[in-house]
Amino acid sequence: MAIHGEITPPPDKSISHRSFMIGALAEGITTVRNALESDDILSTRRALAALGIEIHRDKDAYLVEGSRMKEPLQVIDAGNSGTTARLMSGILAGIEGISAMTGDGSLVQRPMARVMKPLELMGARFLARRGGYLPMAIKGGRLRGIFHPMEVASAQVKSALLLAGLAADGTTTVNEPSPSRDHTERMLDHFGATLNLSAKSVSISGGQRLQARDICVPGDPSSAAFPVVWAAATAGSEIIVRDVCLNPTRTGFLPVLARMGARINVENTRDSAGEPVGDLIVLGSGLQGTTIAGDEIPSLIDEIPILVVAAALAAGTTVITDAKELRVKETDRISAMVQGLRRLGAEVEELEDGLIIKGPARLSGGSIETFSDHRIAMSFFILARALGIDVRLDDVGCVSISYPGFFADMGTFR
Ligand code: S3P
Repeated sequence: MAIHGEITPPPDKSISHRSFMIGALAEGITTVRNALESDDILSTRRALAALGIEIHRDKDAYLVEGSRMKEPLQVIDAGNSGTTARLMSGILAGIEGISAMTGDGSLVQRPMARVMKPLELMGARFLARRGGYLPMAIKGGRLRGIFHPMEVASAQVKSALLLAGLAADGTTTVNEPSPSRDHTERMLDHFGATLNLSAKSVSISGGQRLQARDICVPGDPSSAAFPVVWAAATAGSEIIVRDVCLNPTRTGFLPVLARMGARINVENTRDSAGEPVGDLIVLGSGLQGTTIAGDEIPSLIDEIPILVVAAALAAGTTVITDAKELRVKETDRISAMVQGLRRLGAEVEELEDGLIIKGPARLSGGSIETFSDHRIAMSFFILARALGIDVRLDDVGCVSISYPGFFADMGTFR
Protein backbone atom coordinates (compact mmCIF):
# COMPACT_ATOMS: atom_id res chain seq x y z
CA MET A 1 0.00 0.00 0.00
CA ALA A 2 1.58 3.29 -1.15
CA ILE A 3 1.62 6.29 1.22
CA HIS A 4 1.68 10.07 0.89
CA GLY A 5 2.24 12.72 3.54
CA GLU A 6 4.63 14.53 5.81
CA ILE A 7 5.85 13.56 9.24
CA THR A 8 8.27 14.72 11.94
CA PRO A 9 9.66 11.74 13.87
CA PRO A 10 9.91 11.89 17.67
CA PRO A 11 13.07 13.41 19.18
CA ASP A 12 16.20 11.27 19.18
CA LYS A 13 16.37 8.82 22.07
CA SER A 14 20.18 8.61 22.32
CA ILE A 15 20.59 12.41 22.28
CA SER A 16 17.74 12.91 24.78
CA HIS A 17 19.39 10.56 27.33
CA ARG A 18 22.71 12.35 26.92
CA SER A 19 21.19 15.86 27.17
CA PHE A 20 19.86 15.10 30.66
CA MET A 21 22.96 13.24 31.86
CA ILE A 22 25.55 15.66 30.51
CA GLY A 23 23.38 18.63 31.56
CA ALA A 24 23.40 17.17 35.09
CA LEU A 25 27.21 16.99 35.05
CA ALA A 26 27.64 20.59 33.82
CA GLU A 27 27.88 23.83 35.77
CA GLY A 28 24.72 25.93 35.42
CA ILE A 29 21.28 25.32 33.96
CA THR A 30 21.03 23.39 30.72
CA THR A 31 17.91 23.94 28.62
CA VAL A 32 16.72 20.87 26.71
CA ARG A 33 14.11 21.57 24.06
CA ASN A 34 12.25 18.87 22.13
CA ALA A 35 13.35 16.06 24.48
CA LEU A 36 11.83 12.67 23.78
CA GLU A 37 8.90 11.89 26.09
CA SER A 38 9.16 8.12 26.28
CA ASP A 39 9.53 5.39 28.88
CA ASP A 40 13.30 5.07 28.37
CA ILE A 41 13.94 8.78 28.85
CA LEU A 42 11.75 8.77 31.96
CA SER A 43 14.09 6.07 33.33
CA THR A 44 17.06 8.41 32.85
CA ARG A 45 15.27 11.41 34.38
CA ARG A 46 14.26 9.31 37.42
CA ALA A 47 17.82 7.97 37.82
CA LEU A 48 19.18 11.53 37.86
CA ALA A 49 16.47 12.62 40.32
CA ALA A 50 17.61 9.81 42.66
CA LEU A 51 21.07 11.43 42.59
CA GLY A 52 19.66 14.79 43.66
CA ILE A 53 19.48 16.42 40.22
CA GLU A 54 16.60 18.90 39.78
CA ILE A 55 14.91 18.81 36.40
CA HIS A 56 12.00 21.22 35.87
CA ARG A 57 9.60 21.61 33.00
CA ASP A 58 9.38 25.21 31.74
CA LYS A 59 6.83 25.56 28.92
CA ASP A 60 8.36 23.67 25.98
CA ALA A 61 11.73 22.95 27.62
CA TYR A 62 13.32 21.05 30.48
CA LEU A 63 15.72 22.92 32.73
CA VAL A 64 18.44 20.67 34.11
CA GLU A 65 20.24 22.10 37.14
CA GLY A 66 23.76 20.72 37.04
CA SER A 67 25.20 20.00 40.49
CA ARG A 68 27.33 17.59 42.46
CA MET A 69 25.53 14.24 42.47
CA LYS A 70 24.85 12.49 45.77
CA GLU A 71 24.84 8.85 46.79
CA PRO A 72 21.28 7.64 45.98
CA LEU A 73 18.98 6.57 48.81
CA GLN A 74 16.90 4.30 46.58
CA VAL A 75 17.63 1.55 44.09
CA ILE A 76 17.81 3.08 40.61
CA ASP A 77 15.39 1.36 38.23
CA ALA A 78 16.60 1.67 34.62
CA GLY A 79 13.38 0.01 33.37
CA ASN A 80 13.85 -1.30 29.81
CA SER A 81 16.68 1.12 28.99
CA GLY A 82 20.16 -0.27 28.25
CA THR A 83 21.41 3.28 27.62
CA THR A 84 20.27 4.39 31.09
CA ALA A 85 21.84 1.33 32.76
CA ARG A 86 25.18 1.50 30.98
CA LEU A 87 25.76 5.28 30.80
CA MET A 88 24.57 5.76 34.39
CA SER A 89 27.06 3.04 35.50
CA GLY A 90 29.81 5.34 34.24
CA ILE A 91 28.38 8.27 36.21
CA LEU A 92 27.74 6.20 39.37
CA ALA A 93 31.32 4.87 39.27
CA GLY A 94 32.52 8.44 39.87
CA ILE A 95 30.17 9.19 42.80
CA GLU A 96 31.56 8.60 46.29
CA GLY A 97 29.38 5.97 48.01
CA ILE A 98 27.21 2.99 47.18
CA SER A 99 24.48 2.82 44.58
CA ALA A 100 22.27 0.00 43.39
CA MET A 101 20.60 -0.46 40.02
CA THR A 102 18.08 -2.84 38.51
CA GLY A 103 15.84 -3.04 35.44
CA ASP A 104 12.83 -4.79 33.93
CA GLY A 105 12.61 -8.45 32.86
CA SER A 106 14.46 -7.74 29.60
CA LEU A 107 17.20 -5.48 30.99
CA VAL A 108 18.19 -7.92 33.76
CA GLN A 109 19.12 -10.38 30.98
CA ARG A 110 21.36 -7.95 29.08
CA PRO A 111 25.15 -8.06 29.57
CA MET A 112 26.62 -5.52 31.98
CA ALA A 113 30.11 -7.05 32.29
CA ARG A 114 31.15 -4.97 29.28
CA VAL A 115 30.86 -1.81 31.43
CA MET A 116 31.63 -3.35 34.81
CA LYS A 117 35.04 -4.74 33.84
CA PRO A 118 36.63 -1.53 32.52
CA LEU A 119 35.01 0.56 35.28
CA GLU A 120 36.57 -1.83 37.84
CA LEU A 121 39.96 -1.24 36.21
CA MET A 122 39.30 2.47 36.72
CA GLY A 123 38.80 1.84 40.46
CA ALA A 124 35.04 1.29 40.95
CA ARG A 125 33.76 -1.92 42.55
CA PHE A 126 30.74 -3.94 41.47
CA LEU A 127 28.64 -6.71 42.92
CA ALA A 128 26.31 -8.23 40.35
CA ARG A 129 24.54 -11.48 39.50
CA ARG A 130 26.79 -14.25 38.21
CA GLY A 131 27.96 -13.51 34.66
CA GLY A 132 27.55 -9.76 35.14
CA TYR A 133 23.81 -9.03 35.13
CA LEU A 134 21.54 -6.58 36.95
CA PRO A 135 20.62 -6.08 39.75
CA MET A 136 23.99 -4.74 40.79
CA ALA A 137 25.62 -2.57 43.43
CA ILE A 138 28.39 -0.10 42.65
CA LYS A 139 30.95 1.36 45.02
CA GLY A 140 32.05 4.56 43.38
CA GLY A 141 34.78 6.97 44.26
CA ARG A 142 38.17 8.06 43.05
CA LEU A 143 38.81 6.75 39.56
CA ARG A 144 41.94 6.64 37.42
CA GLY A 145 42.12 6.85 33.63
CA ILE A 146 42.69 3.67 31.61
CA PHE A 147 43.25 2.57 28.03
CA HIS A 148 40.39 0.27 27.06
CA PRO A 149 40.24 -1.64 23.77
CA MET A 150 36.56 -2.63 23.34
CA GLU A 151 35.82 -6.11 21.98
CA VAL A 152 32.53 -5.04 20.38
CA ALA A 153 31.68 -1.61 18.99
CA SER A 154 29.37 -0.21 21.66
CA ALA A 155 28.46 3.43 22.05
CA GLN A 156 27.01 2.66 25.45
CA VAL A 157 30.28 1.24 26.78
CA LYS A 158 32.33 4.01 25.14
CA SER A 159 30.03 6.65 26.63
CA ALA A 160 30.07 5.10 30.11
CA LEU A 161 33.87 5.22 30.09
CA LEU A 162 34.01 8.80 28.80
CA LEU A 163 31.59 9.96 31.51
CA ALA A 164 33.61 8.07 34.16
CA GLY A 165 36.79 9.47 32.57
CA LEU A 166 35.58 13.02 33.27
CA ALA A 167 35.67 12.19 37.00
CA ALA A 168 38.99 10.27 36.85
CA ASP A 169 42.59 11.23 37.45
CA GLY A 170 44.57 11.14 34.21
CA THR A 171 43.45 10.22 30.71
CA THR A 172 40.88 7.63 29.64
CA THR A 173 41.18 6.25 26.11
CA VAL A 174 38.62 4.01 24.44
CA ASN A 175 39.44 2.13 21.28
CA GLU A 176 36.64 0.61 19.17
CA PRO A 177 36.79 -2.09 16.48
CA SER A 178 34.49 -0.04 14.19
CA PRO A 179 32.96 3.39 14.77
CA SER A 180 29.81 3.48 16.91
CA ARG A 181 27.47 6.46 17.39
CA ASP A 182 29.40 9.52 18.59
CA HIS A 183 26.68 11.63 20.26
CA THR A 184 28.52 11.64 23.60
CA GLU A 185 31.70 12.98 22.00
CA ARG A 186 29.77 15.65 20.10
CA MET A 187 27.80 16.70 23.16
CA LEU A 188 30.80 16.81 25.50
CA ASP A 189 32.50 19.05 22.93
CA HIS A 190 29.35 21.24 22.78
CA PHE A 191 29.53 21.58 26.61
CA GLY A 192 33.14 22.77 26.38
CA ALA A 193 35.14 19.58 27.04
CA THR A 194 38.30 18.76 25.10
CA LEU A 195 38.49 15.29 23.57
CA ASN A 196 41.17 13.76 21.39
CA LEU A 197 39.65 11.88 18.50
CA SER A 198 41.26 9.59 15.98
CA ALA A 199 39.70 7.17 13.50
CA LYS A 200 38.91 4.45 16.04
CA SER A 201 39.73 5.91 19.43
CA VAL A 202 38.73 8.73 21.73
CA SER A 203 40.52 10.12 24.80
CA ILE A 204 39.34 12.41 27.55
CA SER A 205 41.32 13.82 30.46
CA GLY A 206 39.71 13.95 33.88
CA GLY A 207 38.82 17.01 35.91
CA GLN A 208 37.45 19.05 33.00
CA ARG A 209 34.51 21.31 33.84
CA LEU A 210 31.49 21.34 31.59
CA GLN A 211 29.43 24.50 31.04
CA ALA A 212 25.62 24.37 30.74
CA ARG A 213 24.32 24.76 27.20
CA ASP A 214 21.06 24.92 25.22
CA ILE A 215 20.09 21.85 23.26
CA CYS A 216 17.28 21.27 20.80
CA VAL A 217 17.02 17.52 20.20
CA PRO A 218 16.64 16.59 16.50
CA GLY A 219 14.32 13.84 15.20
CA ASP A 220 15.32 10.22 15.72
CA PRO A 221 16.65 8.55 12.56
CA SER A 222 15.84 5.15 14.10
CA SER A 223 12.16 6.15 14.35
CA ALA A 224 12.26 7.83 10.92
CA ALA A 225 13.47 4.54 9.41
CA PHE A 226 9.99 2.95 9.82
CA PRO A 227 8.05 5.31 7.50
CA VAL A 228 11.14 5.68 5.27
CA VAL A 229 11.21 1.91 4.58
CA TRP A 230 7.42 1.79 4.12
CA ALA A 231 7.55 4.56 1.49
CA ALA A 232 10.78 3.41 -0.18
CA ALA A 233 9.46 -0.13 -0.70
CA THR A 234 6.01 0.75 -2.05
CA ALA A 235 5.91 2.11 -5.61
CA GLY A 236 3.91 5.32 -5.93
CA SER A 237 4.66 6.52 -2.38
CA GLU A 238 5.93 10.02 -1.67
CA ILE A 239 6.67 11.26 1.83
CA ILE A 240 8.70 13.96 3.57
CA VAL A 241 10.31 13.17 6.92
CA ARG A 242 11.34 16.41 8.62
CA ASP A 243 14.07 17.40 11.11
CA VAL A 244 15.91 14.07 11.20
CA CYS A 245 19.31 13.76 12.90
CA LEU A 246 21.69 12.89 10.04
CA ASN A 247 24.75 11.97 12.10
CA PRO A 248 26.55 9.48 9.81
CA THR A 249 27.17 7.12 12.75
CA ARG A 250 23.36 6.67 12.83
CA THR A 251 22.24 6.82 9.21
CA GLY A 252 23.85 3.67 7.78
CA PHE A 253 20.36 2.54 6.73
CA LEU A 254 20.20 5.31 4.09
CA PRO A 255 23.12 4.07 1.91
CA VAL A 256 21.83 0.50 2.36
CA LEU A 257 18.39 1.50 1.08
CA ALA A 258 20.03 3.45 -1.78
CA ARG A 259 21.96 0.27 -2.69
CA MET A 260 18.63 -1.57 -2.73
CA GLY A 261 17.33 0.96 -5.26
CA ALA A 262 15.48 3.39 -2.95
CA ARG A 263 15.08 7.01 -4.04
CA ILE A 264 15.79 9.19 -0.99
CA ASN A 265 16.92 12.81 -1.15
CA VAL A 266 18.28 14.86 1.72
CA GLU A 267 17.30 18.54 1.85
CA ASN A 268 17.50 21.55 4.13
CA THR A 269 20.59 20.33 6.04
CA ARG A 270 21.71 22.34 9.06
CA ASP A 271 23.50 21.97 12.41
CA SER A 272 21.90 21.67 15.85
CA ALA A 273 24.16 21.58 18.94
CA GLY A 274 26.90 19.80 16.98
CA GLU A 275 24.59 17.32 15.20
CA PRO A 276 23.71 17.48 11.48
CA VAL A 277 19.95 17.65 10.82
CA GLY A 278 17.87 17.63 7.62
CA ASP A 279 14.70 16.52 5.82
CA LEU A 280 14.30 13.26 3.89
CA ILE A 281 12.22 13.09 0.71
CA VAL A 282 11.35 9.48 -0.06
CA LEU A 283 9.87 8.29 -3.37
CA GLY A 284 8.63 4.70 -3.58
CA SER A 285 10.15 2.22 -5.99
CA GLY A 286 10.87 -1.50 -6.22
CA LEU A 287 13.80 -2.61 -4.02
CA GLN A 288 16.46 -5.28 -4.64
CA GLY A 289 18.23 -7.51 -2.13
CA THR A 290 21.67 -6.61 -0.79
CA THR A 291 24.39 -7.64 1.66
CA ILE A 292 24.72 -5.81 4.99
CA ALA A 293 27.90 -6.61 6.95
CA GLY A 294 31.16 -5.41 8.48
CA ASP A 295 31.91 -1.88 9.60
CA GLU A 296 28.51 -0.53 8.53
CA ILE A 297 26.68 -2.67 11.12
CA PRO A 298 27.13 -0.30 14.13
CA SER A 299 25.77 2.62 12.05
CA LEU A 300 22.45 0.78 11.51
CA ILE A 301 22.33 -1.69 14.39
CA ASP A 302 18.90 -0.54 15.64
CA GLU A 303 17.50 -0.39 12.08
CA ILE A 304 18.19 -4.04 11.22
CA PRO A 305 14.63 -5.22 12.09
CA ILE A 306 13.11 -2.66 9.71
CA LEU A 307 15.83 -3.36 7.08
CA VAL A 308 14.81 -7.03 7.30
CA VAL A 309 11.29 -5.86 6.44
CA ALA A 310 12.73 -3.93 3.46
CA ALA A 311 14.52 -7.15 2.44
CA ALA A 312 11.29 -9.16 2.68
CA LEU A 313 9.63 -6.64 0.34
CA ALA A 314 12.63 -6.53 -2.07
CA ALA A 315 13.34 -8.78 -5.05
CA GLY A 316 16.24 -11.21 -4.52
CA THR A 317 18.26 -12.38 -1.56
CA THR A 318 19.48 -10.21 1.33
CA VAL A 319 22.29 -11.42 3.58
CA ILE A 320 22.91 -9.79 6.98
CA THR A 321 26.03 -10.88 8.93
CA ASP A 322 28.37 -9.51 11.64
CA ALA A 323 25.31 -8.50 13.65
CA LYS A 324 25.61 -10.82 16.65
CA GLU A 325 24.97 -7.84 18.94
CA LEU A 326 21.31 -8.09 17.89
CA ARG A 327 21.04 -11.14 20.13
CA VAL A 328 21.57 -8.99 23.25
CA LYS A 329 19.23 -6.07 22.47
CA GLU A 330 15.80 -5.56 24.14
CA THR A 331 15.21 -9.12 22.93
CA ASP A 332 17.15 -11.48 20.65
CA ARG A 333 16.21 -9.56 17.50
CA ILE A 334 17.62 -12.14 15.05
CA SER A 335 15.46 -14.87 16.53
CA ALA A 336 12.39 -12.58 16.90
CA MET A 337 12.52 -11.47 13.23
CA VAL A 338 13.15 -15.00 11.92
CA GLN A 339 10.30 -16.45 13.99
CA GLY A 340 7.85 -13.72 12.99
CA LEU A 341 8.69 -13.86 9.28
CA ARG A 342 8.39 -17.65 9.20
CA ARG A 343 5.02 -17.33 10.95
CA LEU A 344 3.85 -15.17 8.00
CA GLY A 345 5.26 -17.60 5.42
CA ALA A 346 8.67 -16.10 4.49
CA GLU A 347 11.74 -18.12 3.53
CA VAL A 348 14.41 -17.12 6.07
CA GLU A 349 17.63 -18.75 7.22
CA GLU A 350 18.87 -17.93 10.70
CA LEU A 351 22.63 -17.37 11.09
CA GLU A 352 24.52 -17.05 14.36
CA ASP A 353 25.27 -13.39 13.53
CA GLY A 354 22.44 -12.45 11.18
CA LEU A 355 20.04 -13.95 8.65
CA ILE A 356 19.38 -14.62 4.98
CA ILE A 357 16.01 -13.76 3.49
CA LYS A 358 14.59 -14.38 0.02
CA GLY A 359 12.29 -11.70 -1.33
CA PRO A 360 9.81 -10.71 -2.39
CA ALA A 361 8.21 -12.88 0.26
CA ARG A 362 4.61 -13.95 -0.46
CA LEU A 363 3.15 -13.45 2.98
CA SER A 364 -0.22 -13.98 4.53
CA GLY A 365 -1.56 -12.60 7.80
CA GLY A 366 -0.91 -14.08 11.23
CA SER A 367 -0.06 -13.45 14.87
CA ILE A 368 3.35 -12.12 15.81
CA GLU A 369 5.19 -12.39 19.09
CA THR A 370 6.93 -9.04 19.67
CA PHE A 371 8.74 -10.15 22.86
CA SER A 372 7.66 -6.68 24.05
CA ASP A 373 10.43 -5.17 21.89
CA HIS A 374 9.40 -1.80 20.46
CA ARG A 375 11.38 -2.17 17.23
CA ILE A 376 10.07 -5.69 16.54
CA ALA A 377 6.48 -4.45 17.01
CA MET A 378 6.95 -1.42 14.73
CA SER A 379 8.76 -3.47 12.05
CA PHE A 380 5.96 -6.02 11.72
CA PHE A 381 3.34 -3.25 11.72
CA ILE A 382 5.11 -1.64 8.72
CA LEU A 383 5.40 -5.00 6.93
CA ALA A 384 1.68 -5.60 7.41
CA ARG A 385 0.70 -2.13 6.17
CA ALA A 386 3.08 -2.20 3.19
CA LEU A 387 1.58 -5.52 2.03
CA GLY A 388 -1.98 -4.80 3.18
CA ILE A 389 -2.09 -8.02 5.22
CA ASP A 390 -3.64 -8.56 8.63
CA VAL A 391 -0.99 -9.02 11.32
CA ARG A 392 -1.84 -9.20 15.03
CA LEU A 393 0.88 -8.06 17.46
CA ASP A 394 0.80 -9.55 20.97
CA ASP A 395 2.04 -6.26 22.52
CA VAL A 396 1.46 -2.83 20.99
CA GLY A 397 2.14 -0.83 24.18
CA CYS A 398 5.90 -1.49 23.93
CA VAL A 399 6.23 1.16 21.16
CA SER A 400 6.17 3.76 23.98
CA ILE A 401 9.80 2.85 24.74
CA SER A 402 10.96 4.99 21.82
CA TYR A 403 7.94 6.17 19.75
CA PRO A 404 4.77 6.70 21.83
CA GLY A 405 2.88 8.31 18.90
CA PHE A 406 3.85 5.63 16.36
CA PHE A 407 0.40 4.28 15.48
CA ALA A 408 -1.16 7.76 15.35
CA ASP A 409 1.67 9.08 13.12
CA MET A 410 1.49 6.12 10.74
CA GLY A 411 -2.27 6.72 10.55
CA THR A 412 -1.72 10.23 9.12
CA PHE A 413 -0.47 8.92 5.76
CA ARG A 414 -2.94 8.98 2.87
C1 S3P B 1 22.79 3.32 22.05
C2 S3P B 1 23.76 2.49 21.56
C3 S3P B 1 23.49 1.20 20.90
C4 S3P B 1 22.03 1.12 20.46
C5 S3P B 1 21.09 1.57 21.54
C6 S3P B 1 21.36 3.01 21.92
C7 S3P B 1 23.19 4.58 22.70
O1 S3P B 1 23.76 0.14 21.81
O2 S3P B 1 21.72 -0.21 20.06
O3 S3P B 1 19.74 1.46 21.08
O4 S3P B 1 22.34 5.47 22.92
O5 S3P B 1 24.39 4.73 23.00
P1 S3P B 1 25.25 -0.46 22.01
O6 S3P B 1 26.09 0.58 22.58
O7 S3P B 1 25.03 -1.62 22.95
O8 S3P B 1 25.69 -0.89 20.66
